[in-house]
Amino acid sequence: MGETVRVEVGGGVATLTLNRPAARNAINADMRRELTAAVEIADDPAVRALVIRGAGEKAFCAGADIKEFVPPASLVDAREERVGWRWVDALAACRKPTVAAIHGYCLGGGLELALACDIRIATADAVFGLPEVRRAIIPGAGGTQRLPRVVGLGPALRMILTGEHVDAQEAHRIGLVSEVVPDLDAAVGRLAAAFLRVGPRAVAYAKEAVTRGVNLPLSEGLRLEGELSTLLTTTQDRVEGAAAFAERRDPAYTGR
Ligand code: CAA
Repeated sequence: MGETVRVEVGGGVATLTLNRPAARNAINADMRRELTAAVEIADDPAVRALVIRGAGEKAFCAGADIKEFVPPASLVDAREERVGWRWVDALAACRKPTVAAIHGYCLGGGLELALACDIRIATADAVFGLPEVRRAIIPGAGGTQRLPRVVGLGPALRMILTGEHVDAQEAHRIGLVSEVVPDLDAAVGRLAAAFLRVGPRAVAYAKEAVTRGVNLPLSEGLRLEGELSTLLTTTQDRVEGAAAFAERRDPAYTGR
């Protein structure tokens, strides 16, 4: 992969590292292009989970590269920029578990990227915000939609309308991050180990049931859960999971 996104695959986990530390990993046009290609690594059958991190000590990601906003944009520029952010929705639609492992600044498009992941964990130095209104724009990579779905309307509106930052403790209190950890590597390792223990198809269907179901009326969500649950009763992995339990051994799942 290129210079602005490092991609490493090991032990069943693909790690994408945003790599413009001198610019606090701000997402410029090059990085948008590289992220568009990089998220496709999740399609590799050897990859069981995707982790996103930021390079350097200061930031996960400080959002879109504001310096690219200085020249006035034409309609064509605006359209191209919009297309350039489609990878965020591709990331959100990924069928495998995704984790944002956050340290330092996590702002604007950086927070929107984290919100497109399933799980957000952070170190105590993390700082979160959607400061777009301070730049006379609004969050345009999903923030106005995903933040209220994660933390509820009140805390989301407070963050979006003021542009103010919240610290890691507050982010944990409002449910923006699930864990504040002393050591990101160790925490990522624990999550990766958990993802390697589960049935790959089961985890994909569980994710689909939750992420699609949350936007459906309860009765339709329950129907979706019932259909996916029934499909899973027909898999070889279900038999393997039950046999491994009965025989007191680790299951060897194949995804079939
Ligand atoms: N875009 C471009 N450059 C950025 C950047 C950004 N979002 N954030 C930081 N940088 C650059 C700075 O310009 C500076 O570069 P120079 O050394 O060349 O001057 C370098 O990174 C270091 O920044 P600071 O000196 O400010 O260092 P800091 O550690 O004190 O950073 C900060 C503090 C809070 C991250 C501050 O830089 C900041 O407020 N950044 C902007 C955050 C922001 O507004 N993000 C939203 C962007 S809009 C968006 O994301 C739209 C969307 O919906 C997709």
